[in-house]
Amino acid sequence: MSTQQPTQPLFTPAMSPQEGTSAATALFRETFGGEPDGVWYAPGRVNIIGEHTDYNGGLALPIALPHRAHLALRRRQDRTVRLVSPQTRQQVDVTDLDTIGPKGTPGEVRQWAAYVAGVAWALEREGFAGLPGFDAALVSCVPLGGGLSSSAALECSAAVAIDEVAGLGLAGSADSPDDAGRARLVQVCVRAENEMAGAPTGGMDQSASLRCLPGHALELDCRDGSVAHVPFDLAAQELALLVIDTKAKHSLVDGQYGQRRAACEQAANLLGVELLADVAVQDLDEALERLRAAASGSQGSTSAAGADTLEPDVLVRRTRHVVTEIDRTHQLVGLLQDGRPLAGDKLAAAGALMDASHESLRVDYECTCPELDTAVEAARSAGAHGARMTGGGFGGSAIALVDAARVHDVAAAVTDAYARAGFTPPAFLDAVPSAPAGRLA
Ligand code: GLA
Repeated sequence: MSTQQPTQPLFTPAMSPQEGTSAATALFRETFGGEPDGVWYAPGRVNIIGEHTDYNGGLALPIALPHRAHLALRRRQDRTVRLVSPQTRQQVDVTDLDTIGPKGTPGEVRQWAAYVAGVAWALEREGFAGLPGFDAALVSCVPLGGGLSSSAALECSAAVAIDEVAGLGLAGSADSPDDAGRARLVQVCVRAENEMAGAPTGGMDQSASLRCLPGHALELDCRDGSVAHVPFDLAAQELALLVIDTKAKHSLVDGQYGQRRAACEQAANLLGVELLADVAVQDLDEALERLRAAASGSQGSTSAAGADTLEPDVLVRRTRHVVTEIDRTHQLVGLLQDGRPLAGDKLAAAGALMDASHESLRVDYECTCPELDTAVEAARSAGAHGARMTGGGFGGSAIALVDAARVHDVAAAVTDAYARAGFTPPAFLDAVPSAPAGRLA
């Protein structure tokens, strides 16, 4: 018999506001000298349910994490942008707002600077021309490439900082947010991510970072950008949402994400709808039959966008995921809003919806990976009420709805399962629904 001790699970704590402020300010002073005008932050997110629905005009249900990107920033008199982070302190990034441009053009901005300078670029194109340059130091505790929206956190911290130093007056404060102004900033950040960083993402991550409220999940209707705040105070019900960072690196610019999005667009085209959210769940069977017939008929032909028509079976499965996932999101929102405690049958029903979401993403959307599936299975076997991947998939993170008293045991069980499978040890985060982007100091 093996006498090996179980590995201790590794938790990634969030930096406190004081820690974030001091670290970003210290890096700013050391790099640029003098004081920043302020320190702003924006959170990462996890999505409770509603995955790969945003670019299909459907529903998503994210919360803001206590893990944040912190940006100490000072306005400049010229149009230069200088950026530093602890990882790049040896080489400050220097760009100029007059010469930067989208990915693939001569003004392309490299790496993470694209997400910060890109927000200024996108703001100028959305009607706020003539912005000042700035110096900024970034310190983030949102795990990079962990599927927790580290890039959206960066963009949104830049958005609220520039909004204030340039006097745009869009965001309001975190305590008293201007939601309409923040919805505009979401569009700006999405544009920066799509065009400057070349990641064809929807708007869920930026909406979560800018528009969530503490203690609540954000019901986001991606068709019209409207939101509702759904009570999600798990601690009060002795529950917790455990985030499992699989350490399997995911990327939104490596083509897989874009292929899924293109498949959805193709399916919507063949069905004659603008977006897959237009297919009602009660009409799904009929729609899938029609889609199969239309896709078989156009095999071998090329779309207006120059893409070959995908296999009918692939289009059918992608569509089935999107339409059923939107329905599951509706159902979970309904449960969370019915005023009863999240316990007993209601808790079981919520967990079952999360489980079904993962199955649909695994089988129909094919965007999970062995690390995600192992995390979800191990969490369920250790007593999670429900578990699923969260975010774009192909790596990144999973979430598990667990009894607060069992967080450590579930994390230990997942860590053991990873050791048995020979995977890199995972890390864990406690997902307490937290405040949206704002100013710290
Ligand atoms: C990534 C994208 C989001 C969304 C999710 C999947 O996080 O940035 O826009 O599409 O994947 O739900």
